[in-house]
Amino acid sequence: MATDNTLIEVNNLNVGFRFGDEYYNAVEDVSISLAKNEILAIVGESGCGKSTLATAIIGLHDPHNTRIEGEILYNGLDLTKLNEKLYNRLRGNDISMIFQDPLGSLNPVMTIYKQIEESLIYHTKLNDKERYDRVLELLNQVGIPKPERVMKQYPHELSGGMRQRVVIAIALANKPPVIIADEPTTALDVTIQAQILDLMKDIQEETESGIILITHDLGVVAETADRVAVMYAGQIVEEAPVDVLFTDPKHPYTRSLLNSIPNELHEDGEELHVIQGTVPSLQNLPRKGDRFRDRIPWIPDEAFDEDPILHEIAPGHKVRGNSWKYFHFEGEEME
Ligand SMILES: Nc1ncnc2c1ncn2[C@@H]1O[C@H](COP(=O)(O)OP(=O)(O)OP(=O)(O)O)[C@@H](O)[C@H]1O
Ligand SMILES: [Mg+2]
Repeated sequence: MATDNTLIEVNNLNVGFRFGDEYYNAVEDVSISLAKNEILAIVGESGCGKSTLATAIIGLHDPHNTRIEGEILYNGLDLTKLNEKLYNRLRGNDISMIFQDPLGSLNPVMTIYKQIEESLIYHTKLNDKERYDRVLELLNQVGIPKPERVMKQYPHELSGGMRQRVVIAIALANKPPVIIADEPTTALDVTIQAQILDLMKDIQEETESGIILITHDLGVVAETADRVAVMYAGQIVEEAPVDVLFTDPKHPYTRSLLNSIPNELHEDGEELHVIQGTVPSLQNLPRKGDRFRDRIPWIPDEAFDEDPILHEIAPGHKVRGNSWKYFHFEGEEME
């Protein structure tokens, strides 16, 4: 739902990839919004369409093999209709993306200084001295020690955690209102992960930006996010404020995801339920009925011919289901 604070509003988005003459949707009928000052987490197993959604928002998909339907509104502008020139102006200035692999997103033959400066040259009219000051300020902001020294170095001379800080500095260079972070900590070891997440949270508070944080790690979500959307096979199956999602998950997929992380939720001796099977590939998705049906043995018969829809069961809490009983179970059916 759009409010005055809405930064991004995605409406009924389909993103299909072409295989031969046919398109298969990796993102299907996704509606989601991001507000100023908010960290929205998108979670789900590998292959459920998280990066496809992010890539569509930032306009980096391959236009020849990708079909986009629906709307992605930013300041009233529908990004799905934007030409490449305008998108280039927006990217890095209004919307920035932080990718999983810091080495892959940095240029190996350019100094750290040049890489951060590049975005300032493209998007601002700052002079040499002002750009130097801004780069220094950014390196300080992302917690890089000895920034004057680091700015003269090349990516391979830095540790993974330091490289990811540089990537974040580049993303922040022009103070974009929207930042999309696609698994920003997956490639890093656990202590560095925590530092980077703290950093992103601090930055979000300082800049009042909205962040879309993509991850398959629910621990990361609990630590960082305000709101969570759970994706399965290209669809949002549940969306809720973070505390609601962790205390009152409704969709069986969300419950299974939560059950697969060992944590205090299980102190009462509740059994861990692990989801059987894997996300189906695009070409093998059921064309009709519930996309999750093959992973849950007790699923009702209606799941095979009814397309489940997203119900808003409480303000801000949406669950995809075939019938009310589908997500009103208390867990016994899983035995
Ligand atoms: N360029 C592409 N062409 C064809 N199929 C693609 C393309 N990119 C992704 N896919 C398919 O789309 C589906 C969603 O992939 P996506 O990368 O968005 O998942 P993800 O949730 O980001 O997974 P991960 O957690 O592994 O990053 C998968 O079935 C994937 O194989
Ligand atoms: Mg991905």
